[in-house]
Amino acid sequence: MKNYFKKHPWKIIENKFTPEYNQVSESIFSIGNGRMGQRANFAETYNGDTLQGSYLAGIYYPDKTKVGWWKNGYPEYFAKVLNSVNWIGIKLKVNDHTIDLSRLEVIDFYRELDMKNGILKRRSIVKVDKKTSIQIESERFYSLQQKDLSFLHYSVKNLGQKCKVEITSFLQADVWNHDTNYDESFWQFDKSNIKDKVYWIQSTTRKTEFTVVAAQKNVVMQNGRNIKDKTYKKGEQNIGLTYKSVLKPEESIELIKHTAICSSFYYDKKNLKKTTLNRIKKSIKKGYDVLISDHSKAWNEKWKTMDVLIEGDVAAQQGIRYNIFQLHQTYTGEDSRLNIGPKGFTGEKYGGSTYWDTEAYCLPFYMGTSTQSVCKNLLKYRHNHLPKAIENAQKLGFVNGAALYPMVTMNGEECHNEWEITFEEIHRNGAIAYAIYDYIRYFGDDGYLAEYGIDVLTGISRFWAQRVNWSTDKNAYVILGVTGPNEYENNIDNNWYTNYMAKWCLIYAYDCYNLLIESNSLFPNDMIAKLNLSKKEVESWNDIASQIYFPTSRKHGIFLQQDGFLDKEQVLVADLKNEERPLNQKWSWDRILRSPYIKQADVLQGMYFFEEKFSKKSLENNFNYYEPRTVHESSLSPCVHSILAASLGKMDKAYEMYLRTSRLDLDNYNNDTEDGLHITSMAGSWLSVIKGFAGMKIQNNLLSFHPFLPEKWKSYSFKIKHQGQSIKIKVNGEEIALENESKNDKIVKIFNKRKTIAAFGSITVNHN
Ligand code: BGC
Repeated sequence: MKNYFKKHPWKIIENKFTPEYNQVSESIFSIGNGRMGQRANFAETYNGDTLQGSYLAGIYYPDKTKVGWWKNGYPEYFAKVLNSVNWIGIKLKVNDHTIDLSRLEVIDFYRELDMKNGILKRRSIVKVDKKTSIQIESERFYSLQQKDLSFLHYSVKNLGQKCKVEITSFLQADVWNHDTNYDESFWQFDKSNIKDKVYWIQSTTRKTEFTVVAAQKNVVMQNGRNIKDKTYKKGEQNIGLTYKSVLKPEESIELIKHTAICSSFYYDKKNLKKTTLNRIKKSIKKGYDVLISDHSKAWNEKWKTMDVLIEGDVAAQQGIRYNIFQLHQTYTGEDSRLNIGPKGFTGEKYGGSTYWDTEAYCLPFYMGTSTQSVCKNLLKYRHNHLPKAIENAQKLGFVNGAALYPMVTMNGEECHNEWEITFEEIHRNGAIAYAIYDYIRYFGDDGYLAEYGIDVLTGISRFWAQRVNWSTDKNAYVILGVTGPNEYENNIDNNWYTNYMAKWCLIYAYDCYNLLIESNSLFPNDMIAKLNLSKKEVESWNDIASQIYFPTSRKHGIFLQQDGFLDKEQVLVADLKNEERPLNQKWSWDRILRSPYIKQADVLQGMYFFEEKFSKKSLENNFNYYEPRTVHESSLSPCVHSILAASLGKMDKAYEMYLRTSRLDLDNYNNDTEDGLHITSMAGSWLSVIKGFAGMKIQNNLLSFHPFLPEKWKSYSFKIKHQGQSIKIKVNGEEIALENESKNDKIVKIFNKRKTIAAFGSITVNHN
């Protein structure tokens, strides 16, 4: 569906109604504010294909695991992000006909997501009967400033002869998840009521016992007059108010829903109703106009630091802004209990939990655009989960504080149904250690290591030290029975990436321990005692690391993805027919596992993390070998290839992969946007521009750049925050301009030369 959404630098636009694409559009036009979010379901009745979804941060249900043959070590549950109270509900009747876009003739349709201001708008003209058509206009947003509030401004205009209109505005608590293992309802209804025109509903999740109260009040006007209302109730779980009126030709009726949703994740359960009703009161007092204007201002402020401006290529510009927008709608970073789910607030798939995506992809985005405390919160999330990671490893038979972080989690426990694919991806431990390293070198925050980092590194290293085994055949340590980042091969031996991460973690932890011991002010004795860590143990890590086995092919001059990779039939992606893609929707799993096709960067993922440790020649050989075998059917794949291609001077490939990553959902590349957006991989678009095209790296504590300008672009510019300073970079065809926006000088490296940019000063450098 390339080119379905109109290209615009600040907006996503859909200007026709295509019922077959409805679920894709519901994903694309999703909105949120970090605390809650929603798919773009129609407010009014819709009986066509739809995936209803309104989600609340931190609220989940532990759905009992479903497998055929239960084996020891399987997690008990698969955590589901919950579809929760539907707050946009509208029932609209005109001349007694229910308005439903799937049943009536849609004469005109226009929907836009205004990313600059964080507002979703829609206009639909519908033919109701021979003499009557109406125009519906709606505008909705989740307040970025008042995070418990959301708003729907809904108006109906009569475009035909005089007609009767009946609008019901309601809250609905009897909602279901599409994805359940046992078709159970995840919510327990508690109570609902209506008083002084404010109605509210309270429900509690089963098992996890999160309580949520949603309250609503409408402001309804016709020609400046209020309209009389009547209580609406359908059972106890649908509650609202109905407004009846008559509309003359060209006359409109307008409804503004003020909604507050508060959960026990944030507030005291006992006072939850009171808290929620107070929010509504304040919202009404402030008024819609003020609240929407505050909300827009908050977005505009965000854009001042987050924006990437691309001149000369509107598709690329729209793509990057869309990605930044969706990331910020998902995670704003104030709370170390929250994380970035692969689908954010846009769908149920992946259980909405935390994956290695956060450490491997999202953290660098937040480091460059946000504050240190936001990034620290992302790291502390894993530190908080260390006891659970130790338990998780114990369940699998590991001892002595070895920690295996979950591949998928909500609260630190492993919570996914898939054994061979998900659990065996023990490489995630590597990304969690890498994030500590990445954070410390970016912010120079050595204190983090002693305070939090070393505990996590110790647990992770203990795991690797026990997970390897000595192979007398290979005379080296091997790691058997894993799944690498390439999920199209399971239960393999000696995945190069996993072995590399294991080795690196062991050495890094060894180095960190020694660093801390040397500066004993950072590493007090009681901490060493708490960790029960001895020099002997740490030295054994170093010893294991030096003897880990790596599969390689001399013939091809490459690292082998795993033992036996070359036994596979050596066909390329170019040999596949279009109809066979995406493979995971067209081929049997058996066929996929036997094929050489790679889902996402695997060997190349490791080379991306540690590029400085490999020669250009080795990088080039591996890229040239693996890229033609990679189908990029994980959204996380193209960005790594874009960055490496840029580094190798393969500009066309870098650009192709950039477009693929930044427009993955807008152009529905992998034919799965209907399930929700690929939020975590959106960070990859930013990485492709900043680490790929601008070649940004951290070298000896300094920001270093190696920029190039993609052929189609006139220029691009962005801001980078680094160690409390902010610099702006603009790259055009002639030169690179750098502005230091802070009050201290900033030293950077451009094309490997050190340059000082004076406080509030600027420099320009010619292309290499
Ligand atoms: C990828 C994983 C990723 C997960 C969530 C899968 O398709 O293969 O690497 O962690 O999606 O984004």
